[in-house]
Amino acid sequence: MSGYRLLENASLEGRNTFRVAARAALLADVYDADALRELLAYPGVQSGPLLLLGAGSNILFVDEVPGLVVSLAMHDIRMLVDHDQHAIVRAEAGVPWNDLVHWTLGHRLLGLENLVLIPGTVGAAPIQNIGAYGVEVGEFIEVVEAFDRHSHNACRMSHADCAFGYRDSVFKRQPDRWIITAVEFRLPRHRELITGYAGVPEELAAMGAATPRAAQVAEAIARLRSRKLPNPVVLGNAGSFFKNPILASAQAQALAERFPGLPVFPAGSEVLRKVSAAWLIEHCGLKGYRDGDAAVSEQHALVLVNHGRASGRHVFELAQQVAVRVFEHFGVALEPEPRIIGATWRPVAA
Ligand code: FAD
Ligand code: EPU
Repeated sequence: MSGYRLLENASLEGRNTFRVAARAALLADVYDADALRELLAYPGVQSGPLLLLGAGSNILFVDEVPGLVVSLAMHDIRMLVDHDQHAIVRAEAGVPWNDLVHWTLGHRLLGLENLVLIPGTVGAAPIQNIGAYGVEVGEFIEVVEAFDRHSHNACRMSHADCAFGYRDSVFKRQPDRWIITAVEFRLPRHRELITGYAGVPEELAAMGAATPRAAQVAEAIARLRSRKLPNPVVLGNAGSFFKNPILASAQAQALAERFPGLPVFPAGSEVLRKVSAAWLIEHCGLKGYRDGDAAVSEQHALVLVNHGRASGRHVFELAQQVAVRVFEHFGVALEPEPRIIGATWRPVAA
């Protein structure tokens, strides 16, 4: 047995940013992608339950995890193609996302600067097509290298195969079918920087960066993020707990007329609009609402936090309460963004 390490009845408390207690029947830390085939052929593993776990920054454990939890620890980053106009960079699944962003900036490659400081691993980035400050990672993903548990073979998924959407991809729709082992990014050397997101121009101006470089855009966004979001090292959380609801344009407009001030954003099509879930939650009076150690963050209404000893179930039930209140006030159904393990979300509109 080489290339991985197995642990029975493993604690996952230190492996999720909500820092809730949970255990895995079996945990495998994998150091070599070639070991996956052997690991997955184990009796009981091949057809049994399996969960991929990165840094646990978008997951809520409500119950113990049956079967095998796989954590990929391969950490290589390399340039596959290095042209004047662009480069292809390959990063293995276990690379911390923020390390990759800084690596690309160091190599004068553009595209990932707005995604600075997002927690988690490269392997998880395609799952929900991570996005922030006007950029989604899918735009730069050329190939996702994965192990397909259906065919039991390694495969290469093209950008089109990934079917990226807002906080969505083919991987999110068929969880744990593909074990993502590496991601190949096509990154330009020249591109207009995206600096229009609310707060960014002001931050750049405060930095004295009138014509900013990519590293300065990253710095401005890192400063904004640090002010706006609770740090999971200090206060357990998984970032936004709900997706921003996407509504028909007419419904969004009617809602904004009834509730002046509701932020409405484009959603990639003329007939759709995204509305701010944080605003809806705040305007139900729930910002900072606390139920024991589970709470809605005082800093950002879209973030649920664990003040210390909240269980995953406690956080889950708080999330359900928040969704019910928002539905009662606004008739809008919130959907959770993080993966929930051990409980099924009860849609409020049903
Ligand atoms: P995990 O939480 O471990 O897993 C998430 C999902 O990916 C699970 O379904 C898991 O099974 C699956 N998965 C993980 N690794 C693999 C793999 N190798 N192969 C197949 N499936 C896999 N997200 C944003 O999009 N934008 C933000 O701005 C943002 N800000 C955040 C801020 C904070 C403070 C926090 C705590 C979270 C934030 N997030 C944000 C959410 C989170 O950082 C991302 O979703 C991140 O990509 C999760 O990475 P992870 O390694 O922690 O994945
Ligand atoms: N707002 C409130 N109350 C709050 C916080 C925000 O009313 O407590 C309002 C703001 O006034 C603003 C609007 O909500 O008009 C949007 O706020 P923000 O810019 O913070 O963005 P968000 O929609 O809450 C999304 C992503 C974040 C990403 C930021 C920046 C989702 C679900 N969340 O948050 O991603 O970092 O935009 O691009 O799309 C994550 O996915 O975990 C995450 C943190």
